[in-house]
Amino acid sequence: MEVKRNSLCWCGSGKKYKQCHEKFDEKYQMMKLKGNHMPDRYLIKSTKDLVEIRKSAQINTGVLDHVASHIQAGMSTAQIDQMVYDYTVSHGAIPAPLDYEGFPKSCCTSVNDEVCHGIPDESIILKDGDIVNVDVSTIYHGYYSDASRMFMIGNVDEEAKRLVRVTKECMEIGIAAIKPWGHVGDIGAAIVAHAHQNGYSVVRDFAGHGVGKEFHEDPIVAHVGIRGTGMVLCPGMIITVEPMINAGDWHLYIDADNGWTSYTSDGSLSAQWENMVLITEHGIEILTA
Ligand code: MF3
Ligand code: CO
Repeated sequence: MEVKRNSLCWCGSGKKYKQCHEKFDEKYQMMKLKGNHMPDRYLIKSTKDLVEIRKSAQINTGVLDHVASHIQAGMSTAQIDQMVYDYTVSHGAIPAPLDYEGFPKSCCTSVNDEVCHGIPDESIILKDGDIVNVDVSTIYHGYYSDASRMFMIGNVDEEAKRLVRVTKECMEIGIAAIKPWGHVGDIGAAIVAHAHQNGYSVVRDFAGHGVGKEFHEDPIVAHVGIRGTGMVLCPGMIITVEPMINAGDWHLYIDADNGWTSYTSDGSLSAQWENMVLITEHGIEILTA
């Protein structure tokens, strides 16, 4: 045992095990013995993983900032897609959606009653009063990042503004519910409470996810949940929190022609915000801020 404690830690930090993940492993084993659902070690990012994932996330944030400073009425969603592609590639990275399970474009653009996975298109022109989500994911040196924001085009009515604001609050409240060694169900419980208080519903067909070494890793981060249930969130894990909130009910359907774009069944507005969050020893860090 002494040999193991004095040898290098499994996380790649270069520190001795006893000065690095020894305490982590003790806590992990204790929680496992108590019957908690614990993450595979693959989901605990190494020091090197974190260096690369941070760079990927910085480029991803740069893409969204670039979109934010150019998006306007009269622009097609294909033009947004082109901006995303050009910015990403010029920064030595690859848009993760492109060719992902057959997805044809570099980002998702979801307008008004589109819930998510809208496909950028020349024929979709942003107009005054629209609300649109631009969802951007980046691969840099093989490492993934993922975030999305809402944009309001021109003069947006008060009800749409309120949906966009409350959805952002849902994301923030979900993130605030994350505690190292807490449970993934804490996030959905916090989100659904805030959405319902505001008269909105939470989409159940899509969820947040682990991210970093792959586009979509465990755990599934449902945006409805029960406190104290689901996988334990350990320091070194990275997840997305990306609630989709509908003004009407949560049911949706998927475009039969393209197989991707989802719409609210009742035609009501839908909004989404997404950030990527690192769980640390003492709290969290938003990597896509
Ligand atoms: N960015 C989306 C997510 O949050 C992924 C969309 S899948 C794609 O998981 F193919 F459309 F990119
Ligand atoms: Co995501």
